[in-house]
Amino acid sequence: MQTIDNTIGRDVATTIARISVDPDRALAALTEIDDLHRANGSPNETPILWRLARQARPILSAHLPAAVAAVEAHSQPFGPCAVAIEGLAPTGSRLSPDAQRVLALALGSPLGSPFQYLQQNDGVLVPGLSPTPGVVANSGASPGPFAAHSDDAILPPHLRVRSIALFGVENETRVPTGYAPIEAILDRLDRPDRAILMTPDFAVRKPHSFDLDGGSWSAPLPLVFENAAGELCVQCPTYNTRPLGAAAARAFAGFRRAVDEALQWLVVGEGSYMVFRNDRGLHARPPIAGRRTVLRTYWRPDTASLQAATGQAGPVFDLRPLLAG
Ligand SMILES: [Fe+2]
Repeated sequence: MQTIDNTIGRDVATTIARISVDPDRALAALTEIDDLHRANGSPNETPILWRLARQARPILSAHLPAAVAAVEAHSQPFGPCAVAIEGLAPTGSRLSPDAQRVLALALGSPLGSPFQYLQQNDGVLVPGLSPTPGVVANSGASPGPFAAHSDDAILPPHLRVRSIALFGVENETRVPTGYAPIEAILDRLDRPDRAILMTPDFAVRKPHSFDLDGGSWSAPLPLVFENAAGELCVQCPTYNTRPLGAAAARAFAGFRRAVDEALQWLVVGEGSYMVFRNDRGLHARPPIAGRRTVLRTYWRPDTASLQAATGQAGPVFDLRPLLAG
């Protein structure tokens, strides 16, 4: 059995880095990105937006180097597990929705390759998530609560989302987003419960947002494990996890209490950008009142594993062969 005691307390990795950018520098960067987008005919097609985003990366490096450096640090093993950047909607800036997507992709470009699942959010690479009446709770488009979870826990770890980026467009009632690094969760548990969480005594259910029939529950798996780099990782939708046996049930009850205590809350509002490790912590939000829209992007260092599993070039991948793998 793996031991986790020597990995707890790595405070750099569990720090949520927060940055506020200078309004004048932000306005200069956004103006140049808007010009870049307009000069290319104001496109809305994914491959063009991603190409423009890569062209916009030097603009961000020139005007907002601390923001770029923070995202680069986040992309490294044992880097800050979450980064929040404020001030990306300075007075006088007017980015169209697609130019905002260019900015969101450019901010995330140190993270590697953006991608999306074909059967989620209509296969849109950078979907705008807004509350939609009638959508059930625990899904990105729901106005209801979204309990603590990691996305796509049912997929094998080498195919999962590594980082999730949220770019805030509007957040009328300042609905917060919560994030709990796995180390902060495990610090609140005793050694026997930590050990049980690392044994394959749990099953997780396919998320509602995967628009697919059949095959609802995973094979037995651990909720916590160590990746090849030695980082602690977690795979757990707390509302869609089934402990297999009494000891697992006791450990899971403690885990849920620890998650509630460990969640740190930030508001992703207009001009905010938040990126967090999906595989190294759980995220959550309360019900949404009023208008709230975030542009969400999934990232991996590269999509070679997704390409190999699907036979597709990407950046949009069919979930069916991924779930089979
Ligand atoms: Fe999520």
